Amino acid sequence: MSSRKNLISKKALTNFPIHEIIAKRWSARAFSTKPVEKSKLLSILEAARWAPSSRNEQPWGYIIFTDANRTEMDKARSVLLEINDYAKRAPILICAITKKTYTDTAVYNRLHFHDLGAANENMFLESFNQGLIMHEMGGFDREKARKVFEVPDDYEVGIMIAIGYQDSHEILPERFKEKADLPRERKPLSEIAFLEKIGNGII
Ligand SMILES: Cc1cc2nc3c(=O)[nH]c(=O)nc-3n(C[C@H](O)[C@H](O)[C@H](O)COP(=O)(O)O)c2cc1C
Repeated sequence: MSSRKNLISKKALTNFPIHEIIAKRWSARAFSTKPVEKSKLLSILEAARWAPSSRNEQPWGYIIFTDANRTEMDKARSVLLEINDYAKRAPILICAITKKTYTDTAVYNRLHFHDLGAANENMFLESFNQGLIMHEMGGFDREKARKVFEVPDDYEVGIMIAIGYQDSHEILPERFKEKADLPRERKPLSEIAFLEKIGNGII
């Protein structure tokens, strides 16, 4: 079970002040097996629900697995690639899917993945707000996920998400232990934000 003093905080060292919850969010891997209260899960999903989307299509969908149903949870775990083995301890796994076409016109929605990302980030921030950690994983077998989760043809399989309480980094597989203590890094603002012309860094 988690011991608070071992919990890893990797708050962003920002150059300009940002909201506490944005600075605190990070992709932790040391999941505790402690179950998550349903009320917390519902708050996290509610946060996704209120994300913005192109034409308010809300293309996202979440297929949720919890330890309450071991058989179904094992199926969800089975789609993860070995690099994401750490997530098999998490008491909640989610397959995030996204609808490829607008519902009213059936026209391709080129922004569907963009909007799924926005909803997922809302979930991420709410997870931390609820005292939980979350990890998004592109490392899974998409074709297997489509079959196992019976994803309809008009949906893209987006990403797997793990949510749970945080445990000590001691429980991590060796290859992640060192990484867990490294500071989080980002490109400087001058490389991503330009004043009027690409290359002309805003600062
Ligand atoms: C779309 C997406 C896919 C990712 N896939 C994986 C993954 O398969 N395995 C993993 O360990 N981390 C994965 N990550 C986590 C990233 O490595 C992480 O967000 C990045 O290194 C920045 O670290 P931070 O989230 O702690 O700030 C993924 C993140 C995103 C947004």
